[in-house]
Amino acid sequence: MEGKRGPLAVMACKSGFPFAQKIIKELNNYLSSEGISPISLIPSQEVSFANSEIKTTIDCSIRGSDLYIIQDVENSTNNLSVDENLRALKTAIDSARRADAHYITAVIPVFPYARQDKQVGRECITAAQVAREIEDAGADRVITLDVHNTAIAGFFREAKFENLRASKNILDYVKQNICLDNLIVVAPDEGGTKRASYYAQKLGVKLAIIYKERDYSTTSKIENTTLLGDVSGKDVFIIDDMISTGGTFYNISKMLKEKFDACDIYLACSLPLFNPPSIERFKELFSNGVIRQVLGTDAVSHSDIFKAQNIWYQEISVAKYFAKVIYSINNCMSLSALLS
Ligand code: R5P
Repeated sequence: MEGKRGPLAVMACKSGFPFAQKIIKELNNYLSSEGISPISLIPSQEVSFANSEIKTTIDCSIRGSDLYIIQDVENSTNNLSVDENLRALKTAIDSARRADAHYITAVIPVFPYARQDKQVGRECITAAQVAREIEDAGADRVITLDVHNTAIAGFFREAKFENLRASKNILDYVKQNICLDNLIVVAPDEGGTKRASYYAQKLGVKLAIIYKERDYSTTSKIENTTLLGDVSGKDVFIIDDMISTGGTFYNISKMLKEKFDACDIYLACSLPLFNPPSIERFKELFSNGVIRQVLGTDAVSHSDIFKAQNIWYQEISVAKYFAKVIYSINNCMSLSALLS
């Protein structure tokens, strides 16, 4: 397809393949509505060697293309680590650069190492290192979803950075499936107050905030958790950027239910990483009636078997949203309405 920037081309790393397939399907809906022929994923191979090295080969010409490489570094359907997926992405970008793609965009809904975004003591800022690595491989742009710290955009020297928001898709689901009459939104920590406040405002409901007070006067940090707001007798919607071990949601859900007498509890995030032991934690909360549902997006791939076995989990698709952003960039259309 001839876009204003060059022919639109989409390619996937192995872990990004499930999400890429969904994006291609949605992109083709746009293209057919414009009377343009559908596109297929650019054929490529991610080869793993016996010593664990990885290489990417591209099996057709991409010369001059506006190329989007999809990678899901947290894909739970294979056994590849974040580092292996990051390395695979960099080999794919490098192959594409050497194959003379005109413009390369890395589509990485989960930005690897985003939580290592600032220095505390003698620590590394690995998010900055990752930004440089992706840029050095040859990426001209990065598209991500609800990045942990928006300041990560500033870690790139040249590459453009688009931070998409899953809030529209999650809010649409909530409005259609959860009764708002008795609902209150809860921010899981002070850092998440702005996000939770946005959700509360869009849903037209009240906001409560969990405030963690740390006492640094003792060698063992003492944490005192306070709830600002009243959830008693209310249905609760807690929103965070990601679920990793599930510890944050586990502790808050139990506290709101047992200590503050909350009714139905819904947990939601943009990036459901579901690292251990989160699954066991949510199974326990669900079977004990503490939570009703966990919402997350398909920007992190989970298998159909996983979804069938874990009925507490509801997946919300953001593939159409990503397709729209890619289509808009390829056609030099404004992104403001899609990013706000
Ligand atoms: C932390 O700053 C993040 O916003 C999330 O709250 C955190 O990563 C969730 O991790 P976990 O599920 O392990 O509590």
